[in-house]
Amino acid sequence: ATRYAVVGNPIGHSLSPAIHTRFAEQTGEAVRYERIEAPLEGFEQRVRAFFSEGGGGLNVTVPFKQQAWALADDHTQRAAGAGAVNTLWQDERGRLQGDNTDGAGLVRDLMVNNDVELAGARVLVLGAGGAVRGVLTPLLDAGPEQVVIANRTIEKAHELCRLFADQGSLDASTFEALKGPFDVIINGTSASLQGELPPLADTLVGNNTVCYDMMYGSETTAFNAWAGARGAAKTLDGLGMLVEQAAESFLIWRGIRPDTGPVIAALRNG
Ligand code: ATR
Repeated sequence: ATRYAVVGNPIGHSLSPAIHTRFAEQTGEAVRYERIEAPLEGFEQRVRAFFSEGGGGLNVTVPFKQQAWALADDHTQRAAGAGAVNTLWQDERGRLQGDNTDGAGLVRDLMVNNDVELAGARVLVLGAGGAVRGVLTPLLDAGPEQVVIANRTIEKAHELCRLFADQGSLDASTFEALKGPFDVIINGTSASLQGELPPLADTLVGNNTVCYDMMYGSETTAFNAWAGARGAAKTLDGLGMLVEQAAESFLIWRGIRPDTGPVIAALRNG
């Protein structure tokens, strides 16, 4: 079997090995998938060693996605904009290739798994950190009428608008100045992890609003609890995105797209 792995620090809780192992079983691909905890100062060395020992591909997670971007010799268009790479492999000439499958995973989970219309939609994105930057190119490619980025530090929202200006209709806002309701609200702040919420007006959520938290956990996230209590049409968490970004990486490495539905269901129940 060819070796694959996810690299991060810490890495103990990563679901990627469980997901890719299920993909391998399902598709019959000869894949062995491990977790690698790289020292904070030793990411490049671990990556180079992995590929020189014949490794087939790496997923990269916190805190190494920007370093992976810097290390890659070539980037896909969606990774170039993201400034972060979560998928590495070598081409025939040994050049290190970098992609970012997070945004494709988000868009696919919304559109394919949950029938959410993004084309023509008014989309609100909460947060302007690395997680949001990582998904903007695929999100804008889906053809929304408008994407508004709201962030506590408004300058970071403006910066993303500048960076992605040529890719679609993007606006920056404070939380307080937002005018709803939106068709889709995506929470990309890390606040959710601490059970915190940005200051959001109830009127941002209407009966047709779909709310998506890029985070997930065994409990309903603070954002989804807030959205559900305000009558959102759907509240979705990031588990589907996690499985879909993994499937997109598997497709790059193996040329075959796994069926994600049963894997999402298995993780949800277990
Ligand atoms: P990540 O890689 O998860 O995106 P990040 O780049 O540090 O991490 O970005 C974290 C995001 O969550 C930022 O948009 C941050 O807002 P600021 O740019 O103003 O710091 C947002 N965030 C974190 N905690 C928050 C809170 N308690 N309320 C509102 N926004 C919060």
